[in-house]
Amino acid sequence: MSADELKEYLATAIELAKEVGPAFKDGFWRKGRFSNTSDFAAEDKLGNEADCVTAVDRYIEKTIFARLRQIYPDHKLVGEESTAESGNGYVITDDPTWIVDPVDGTNNFVHHFPYTGISIGLAIGKEPVVGVIYLPILDELYTAARGLGAFVNDQKLPLIQSPALTSPTSLSQCALVSEHGSDRSLKTMQSRLGSFTRLLTDKQYGGGCLQNLRITGGACPDLTLVAKGSAELYWECGPHVWDFAAGVVILLESGGAVFDGAGWWGTDIPEDERVPKPLNIWNRKIVAVRYIPDLPGNPGSGRELQRQLVKELLEIVEDIDYTPDGVQ
Ligand code: IPD
Repeated sequence: MSADELKEYLATAIELAKEVGPAFKDGFWRKGRFSNTSDFAAEDKLGNEADCVTAVDRYIEKTIFARLRQIYPDHKLVGEESTAESGNGYVITDDPTWIVDPVDGTNNFVHHFPYTGISIGLAIGKEPVVGVIYLPILDELYTAARGLGAFVNDQKLPLIQSPALTSPTSLSQCALVSEHGSDRSLKTMQSRLGSFTRLLTDKQYGGGCLQNLRITGGACPDLTLVAKGSAELYWECGPHVWDFAAGVVILLESGGAVFDGAGWWGTDIPEDERVPKPLNIWNRKIVAVRYIPDLPGNPGSGRELQRQLVKELLEIVEDIDYTPDGVQ
C-alpha cells in the first residue's frame, strides 16, 4: 500500500471523526438532538449495569458506517455496537477493515467525565495501519498512519520530549494506566485487583512498587496518554479490538511498542521462556509502553528498556482469558 493511499484513508478517518464531533458533544452535555435524558438510560450488554450503551453510541456508529459504505463499498466494517449486537461472530479477513468505537469510555460519557472519545481504526492484512482518536471534550484529535508519524492537534508525538521524558529501567519509575473493566464477576475482579495490588506493593514485599496507577475509564484515552508520554505503560485483558485498534497505530507511530498482554504470574513457565509476545489486535490482551529515548549510560537501548519493562509487568499481572474477537 502506498503512502498516498494511507494518507487518503487517514484523511477520511479525520473527516468522519470531525463530522460526528458535534453529535458527541451534544450527547455529552445532553443538548440539541440528545437533550432527551431517556436516551442515556443504561442499557446493559453484559448482564450487568456497568457496561452500557447509549443512543449516541448507536447514532455515531450508524453515521460513520453509512459514510464508509458510500466511500469504500468493498471495505469491511467492525463496530462496537453493531458487532457486539450480532454476537462478535464476524470473520476476520485480510481486506481493508474499518474498526470503530463510536464512544469509547461510555461510562465516562454517561457521567460527564471528559476522558471519552471516538475511535476510528483501519486494519489491512489484519494489521492496524491508520488510527484516529478524537476526544471532543478535551479538544484533542490524535491522528496516525503507519510510517507517517503520530500527532495530537498537529503537534508531533510524543509531546513530552527528552530530557523531560526519562528512560525508566523498572516499574518503580513508571506510571501505569489500566482499567477495572466492565466484567464484574467475582473471579475477574479478584484477579484484576490482585494484579493491581502486586503492581503497587513495595518491592520488599515482592511487588513492583509502581509509582502511579491511573484508571481513566477508556482504552483510547489510556493509549493516547502513553503515546503522549504522560504514562509509561498501559495494560489490560478484556478490551475489544475497537477499543484499541486506532490507539495502537498512534502509540506505535509515537515510538512506543505494543505486546500481547498475557502475564505469567502464578504459572510454571520457566524464567528463560518469558518473552513478551507480539500483539494480536483481535486477542483482547494488550500491554503498551511509551517511547523510551536511547540515552548514553542507560543499561540498554530504548527498545531494550521497553521490553524489559513489559517483561517485569507481565511477571506480576495475572492473565485473564477471553474469547478472541471475530473468527480468525
Ligand atoms: C471500555 C474501555 C475500557 C474497558 C471497558 C470498556 P467502551 O469501552 O475501552 O478499556 O475496560 O470494559 O467498556 O465500552 O466504553 O467503549
